Amino acid sequence: MKVRESGMPEEAYWETLFDVALILDRLGVDARLRNVLEFGCGYGTFTIPVARRISGTVTTFDIDPAMVDRARQRATAAGAYNVLYVVEDVFAKGFGGEPASKDACLLFNILHCEEPMKLLAEAARVVRPGGVVLVIHWRHDPATPRGPSMEIRPRPEQVVAWGERTGLLEPEGTMIDLPPWHYGFRLRRRAAGARREETK
Ligand SMILES: C[S@@+](CC[C@H](N)C(=O)[O-])C[C@H]1O[C@@H](n2cnc3c(N)ncnc32)[C@H](O)[C@@H]1O
Repeated sequence: MKVRESGMPEEAYWETLFDVALILDRLGVDARLRNVLEFGCGYGTFTIPVARRISGTVTTFDIDPAMVDRARQRATAAGAYNVLYVVEDVFAKGFGGEPASKDACLLFNILHCEEPMKLLAEAARVVRPGGVVLVIHWRHDPATPRGPSMEIRPRPEQVVAWGERTGLLEPEGTMIDLPPWHYGFRLRRRAAGARREETK
Protein backbone atom coordinates (compact mmCIF):
# COMPACT_ATOMS: atom_id res chain seq x y z
CA MET A 1 0.00 0.00 0.00
CA LYS A 2 1.20 3.49 -0.80
CA VAL A 3 2.39 5.42 2.25
CA ARG A 4 -0.06 8.10 3.39
CA GLU A 5 0.57 11.58 1.96
CA SER A 6 3.33 10.29 -0.33
CA GLY A 7 1.91 11.73 -3.55
CA MET A 8 4.23 14.01 -5.48
CA PRO A 9 3.67 17.49 -6.92
CA GLU A 10 4.88 18.31 -10.40
CA GLU A 11 8.53 17.36 -10.97
CA ALA A 12 9.96 20.81 -11.73
CA TYR A 13 8.37 22.27 -8.59
CA TRP A 14 9.49 19.35 -6.37
CA GLU A 15 13.06 19.95 -7.41
CA THR A 16 13.05 23.60 -6.38
CA LEU A 17 12.54 22.45 -2.79
CA PHE A 18 15.97 20.88 -2.19
CA ASP A 19 19.62 21.78 -2.45
CA VAL A 20 20.52 18.23 -3.45
CA ALA A 21 24.29 18.73 -3.54
CA LEU A 22 24.31 20.34 -0.08
CA ILE A 23 22.14 17.54 1.32
CA LEU A 24 24.36 14.79 -0.05
CA ASP A 25 27.54 16.60 1.05
CA ARG A 26 26.27 17.04 4.61
CA LEU A 27 25.04 13.44 4.81
CA GLY A 28 28.45 12.18 3.65
CA VAL A 29 27.34 10.50 0.42
CA ASP A 30 30.53 9.84 -1.49
CA ALA A 31 32.68 7.13 -3.09
CA ARG A 32 33.26 5.39 0.25
CA LEU A 33 29.75 4.00 -0.20
CA ARG A 34 29.41 1.03 -2.49
CA ASN A 35 26.02 -0.65 -2.18
CA VAL A 36 23.13 1.65 -1.38
CA LEU A 37 19.37 1.08 -1.09
CA GLU A 38 16.78 3.81 -1.50
CA PHE A 39 13.13 3.77 -0.43
CA GLY A 40 11.04 5.61 -3.03
CA CYS A 41 12.92 6.91 -6.05
CA GLY A 42 10.18 9.42 -6.88
CA TYR A 43 11.46 11.40 -9.87
CA GLY A 44 15.03 10.26 -9.21
CA THR A 45 15.78 13.60 -7.54
CA PHE A 46 18.30 11.93 -5.22
CA THR A 47 18.76 8.57 -6.96
CA ILE A 48 20.78 9.96 -9.85
CA PRO A 49 23.09 12.32 -7.90
CA VAL A 50 23.70 9.51 -5.38
CA ALA A 51 24.54 7.09 -8.20
CA ARG A 52 27.09 9.57 -9.54
CA ARG A 53 28.83 9.92 -6.16
CA ILE A 54 29.11 6.36 -4.91
CA SER A 55 31.49 3.64 -6.10
CA GLY A 56 28.89 0.86 -6.47
CA THR A 57 25.20 0.50 -7.19
CA VAL A 58 22.02 2.18 -5.96
CA THR A 59 19.05 -0.18 -5.75
CA THR A 60 15.92 1.93 -5.61
CA PHE A 61 12.44 0.69 -4.70
CA ASP A 62 9.16 2.39 -5.55
CA ILE A 63 5.59 1.12 -5.50
CA ASP A 64 4.64 3.37 -8.44
CA PRO A 65 5.77 2.10 -11.87
CA ALA A 66 5.39 5.61 -13.34
CA MET A 67 7.94 6.94 -10.84
CA VAL A 68 10.35 4.13 -11.65
CA ASP A 69 9.96 4.77 -15.39
CA ARG A 70 10.66 8.47 -14.95
CA ALA A 71 13.69 7.91 -12.72
CA ARG A 72 15.07 5.32 -15.14
CA GLN A 73 14.57 7.63 -18.13
CA ARG A 74 16.38 10.49 -16.38
CA ALA A 75 19.20 8.26 -15.17
CA THR A 76 19.76 6.89 -18.65
CA ALA A 77 19.80 10.40 -20.10
CA ALA A 78 22.35 11.38 -17.46
CA GLY A 79 24.52 8.30 -18.13
CA ALA A 80 23.95 6.94 -14.62
CA TYR A 81 23.87 3.21 -15.32
CA ASN A 82 24.71 2.00 -11.80
CA VAL A 83 21.07 1.98 -10.69
CA LEU A 84 18.81 -1.06 -10.23
CA TYR A 85 15.08 -0.41 -10.17
CA VAL A 86 12.54 -2.48 -8.25
CA VAL A 87 8.78 -1.89 -8.42
CA GLU A 88 7.77 -3.10 -4.97
CA ASP A 89 5.66 -2.34 -1.96
CA VAL A 90 8.46 -2.16 0.59
CA PHE A 91 6.01 -2.27 3.51
CA ALA A 92 4.52 -5.52 2.29
CA LYS A 93 7.73 -7.18 1.06
CA GLY A 94 10.67 -5.41 2.65
CA PHE A 95 13.87 -4.78 0.69
CA GLY A 96 14.66 -8.49 0.38
CA GLY A 97 18.27 -9.52 -0.08
CA GLU A 98 20.95 -10.46 2.39
CA PRO A 99 20.84 -8.95 5.86
CA ALA A 100 23.74 -6.70 6.89
CA SER A 101 24.94 -6.36 3.30
CA LYS A 102 24.55 -2.67 2.36
CA ASP A 103 26.65 0.37 3.16
CA ALA A 104 23.67 2.71 3.36
CA CYS A 105 19.90 2.86 3.14
CA LEU A 106 18.19 6.14 2.23
CA LEU A 107 14.85 7.04 3.83
CA PHE A 108 14.15 10.46 2.33
CA ASN A 109 10.86 12.26 2.97
CA ILE A 110 9.10 9.09 4.05
CA LEU A 111 9.16 8.66 7.86
CA HIS A 112 5.69 10.19 8.16
CA CYS A 113 4.53 6.72 7.06
CA GLU A 114 2.05 4.65 9.06
CA GLU A 115 4.77 2.41 10.53
CA PRO A 116 8.06 4.33 10.86
CA MET A 117 9.49 1.77 13.29
CA LYS A 118 8.84 -1.06 10.84
CA LEU A 119 10.61 0.84 8.07
CA LEU A 120 13.59 1.76 10.25
CA ALA A 121 13.89 -1.83 11.48
CA GLU A 122 13.92 -3.10 7.88
CA ALA A 123 16.53 -0.49 6.92
CA ALA A 124 18.65 -1.46 9.94
CA ARG A 125 18.38 -5.14 8.94
CA VAL A 126 19.87 -4.62 5.49
CA VAL A 127 22.68 -2.25 6.49
CA ARG A 128 25.99 -3.79 7.59
CA PRO A 129 27.48 -3.04 11.02
CA GLY A 130 29.16 0.36 10.63
CA GLY A 131 26.84 1.21 7.73
CA VAL A 132 24.29 4.02 7.90
CA VAL A 133 20.61 4.67 7.52
CA LEU A 134 20.36 8.20 6.13
CA VAL A 135 17.16 10.07 6.93
CA ILE A 136 15.91 13.42 5.71
CA HIS A 137 12.56 14.99 6.38
CA TRP A 138 10.70 18.26 6.23
CA ARG A 139 11.34 20.53 9.19
CA HIS A 140 8.62 20.35 11.83
CA ASP A 141 7.40 23.80 10.88
CA PRO A 142 4.10 24.72 9.22
CA ALA A 143 5.95 27.42 7.23
CA THR A 144 7.52 24.83 4.90
CA PRO A 145 6.02 25.12 1.40
CA ARG A 146 5.30 21.35 1.19
CA GLY A 147 5.44 18.32 3.42
CA PRO A 148 2.95 16.05 5.16
CA SER A 149 0.46 17.32 7.72
CA MET A 150 1.99 18.47 10.96
CA GLU A 151 0.20 15.73 12.94
CA ILE A 152 2.13 12.99 11.14
CA ARG A 153 5.35 14.85 10.40
CA PRO A 154 8.18 13.38 12.50
CA ARG A 155 10.11 15.59 14.88
CA PRO A 156 13.91 15.14 14.96
CA GLU A 157 13.80 13.62 18.45
CA GLN A 158 11.26 11.04 17.26
CA VAL A 159 13.56 9.96 14.43
CA VAL A 160 16.38 9.39 16.94
CA ALA A 161 14.10 7.54 19.37
CA TRP A 162 12.69 5.28 16.65
CA GLY A 163 16.19 4.50 15.42
CA GLU A 164 17.35 3.60 18.92
CA ARG A 165 14.27 1.43 19.45
CA THR A 166 15.39 -0.82 16.60
CA GLY A 167 18.18 -1.87 18.97
CA LEU A 168 20.62 -1.57 16.06
CA LEU A 169 20.88 2.12 15.18
CA GLU A 170 22.45 5.06 16.98
CA PRO A 171 22.72 8.65 15.76
CA GLU A 172 26.16 9.64 14.50
CA GLY A 173 26.48 13.24 15.62
CA THR A 174 23.54 15.57 16.03
CA MET A 175 20.78 16.68 13.72
CA ILE A 176 22.05 17.92 10.36
CA ASP A 177 20.58 21.16 9.05
CA LEU A 178 19.64 20.85 5.37
CA PRO A 179 18.40 24.27 4.32
CA PRO A 180 16.10 25.57 3.16
CA TRP A 181 13.43 23.16 4.38
CA HIS A 182 14.87 19.90 5.69
CA TYR A 183 16.83 18.26 8.47
CA GLY A 184 18.60 14.94 8.50
CA PHE A 185 20.36 12.26 10.51
CA ARG A 186 23.02 9.66 10.00
CA LEU A 187 21.92 6.62 12.00
CA ARG A 188 24.81 4.21 12.24
CA ARG A 189 24.33 0.47 12.67
CA ARG A 190 26.11 -0.74 15.76
CA ALA A 191 28.94 -3.25 15.56
CA ALA A 192 27.97 -6.92 15.51
CA GLY A 193 27.08 -8.13 18.99
CA ALA A 194 26.41 -4.61 20.21
CA ARG A 195 22.64 -4.81 19.97
CA ARG A 196 21.01 -2.51 22.48
CA GLU A 197 17.95 -3.63 24.42
CA GLU A 198 14.79 -1.98 23.13
CA THR A 199 13.47 0.70 25.43
CA LYS A 200 9.78 1.09 26.04
C1 LIG B 1 7.34 11.72 -0.94
S1 LIG B 1 7.99 10.73 -2.26
C2 LIG B 1 9.74 10.83 -1.95
C3 LIG B 1 10.55 10.42 -3.16
C4 LIG B 1 12.06 10.60 -3.00
N1 LIG B 1 12.55 9.82 -1.87
C5 LIG B 1 12.39 12.06 -2.83
O1 LIG B 1 12.62 12.48 -1.67
O2 LIG B 1 12.44 12.79 -3.84
C6 LIG B 1 7.60 9.12 -1.76
C7 LIG B 1 7.83 8.04 -2.80
O3 LIG B 1 7.63 6.76 -2.15
C8 LIG B 1 6.86 5.93 -2.99
N2 LIG B 1 6.12 4.99 -2.12
C9 LIG B 1 5.01 5.22 -1.39
N3 LIG B 1 4.62 4.12 -0.73
C10 LIG B 1 5.51 3.14 -1.05
C11 LIG B 1 5.64 1.77 -0.68
N4 LIG B 1 4.77 1.18 0.15
N5 LIG B 1 6.69 1.06 -1.18
C12 LIG B 1 7.58 1.66 -2.03
N6 LIG B 1 7.49 2.95 -2.43
C13 LIG B 1 6.48 3.69 -1.95
C14 LIG B 1 5.94 6.88 -3.76
O4 LIG B 1 5.49 6.29 -4.98
C15 LIG B 1 6.86 8.09 -3.99
O5 LIG B 1 7.59 7.99 -5.20
